[in-house]
Amino acid sequence: MKIAVDGPAASGKSSVARELSKILNLPYLETGKVYRLFAYIASQNKVKYPLSLFNEDFDVVFDIGITRVFYRGKELSEELYTEEVSTEASKLASLPELREKMIEFFRALVGQRQVVAEGRDVGTHIFPNADIKFFITADPRERARRRYKDLVSKGIKVTYEEVLKSIVERDKRDSERPLYPFRPAEDAIIVDTTNKTLEEVVKEILSYILQKHEAE
Ligand code: DC
Repeated sequence: MKIAVDGPAASGKSSVARELSKILNLPYLETGKVYRLFAYIASQNKVKYPLSLFNEDFDVVFDIGITRVFYRGKELSEELYTEEVSTEASKLASLPELREKMIEFFRALVGQRQVVAEGRDVGTHIFPNADIKFFITADPRERARRRYKDLVSKGIKVTYEEVLKSIVERDKRDSERPLYPFRPAEDAIIVDTTNKTLEEVVKEILSYILQKHEAE
C-alpha cells in the first residue's frame, strides 16, 4: 500500500505521517527532508547549476518512522530545520527541472515498495496512483504557533511574527510557482487539524484507511 500525506508548512503532516508509518508498520519517506538536504548542500558549496546537486555524494534511507539523509557519509538532521534552510529549500523547490528530477528520484527510491510518503506533491505528482491520499492543513496562525513553539524548544531565537511571516511567504511561493504549483490532489481527503490533537487526527485518518480497506 502507498499512502500519500501532503500539506503546507507546519500543518502537522510530518507528525501524522510518522505515526501512521509506525502504526501500520510501513516505511516513512519525508520528501521535504531531501529538498532541505539539497538546500543545505547548496549553501555549503558554490553550486552553479541546481541539477548538479544530484551528482553530490548524498544518500537517503527510509524506514519505519524515520527518513535519514547523509551528505559525504555524515548524517544530517537538526541543521536542516533552520528558517534559513526552510527558505532555501522552498526556493529550490520552485525550480521545475529540479522538481522533475526529484520526482523521478523518489519514484526510483521507493519502487514497488509500500510507503507512507509525505510532502507537497506526493498525491499529485510523485505517486498519483497512491492507494489513498490525505491533504493535511490548518489555519496559518495555528501553524505558526506550532512552528514557533517547536523552534523555541530547540533553543532557536525567533519571534512569533517572524515565524508567521515566513510561513505565509513560503505558502505563497509554494502555491504560486507557475509549474507544479502546490495544491491538493483531486482525490485527496482534506483533513483540517486546527484545534485537533495529533491523536485525534491520526484516529480520523486511520478510520478512512480502514473504510477504504473494507470497501475493497
Ligand atoms: O515539508 P518541508 O517544510 O520540510 O519542505 C521544505 C520545502 O521543500 C518546502 O518549502 C516545499 C518543498 N517541498 C516540495 O516542494 N515538495 C515536496 N514533496 C516536499 C517539500
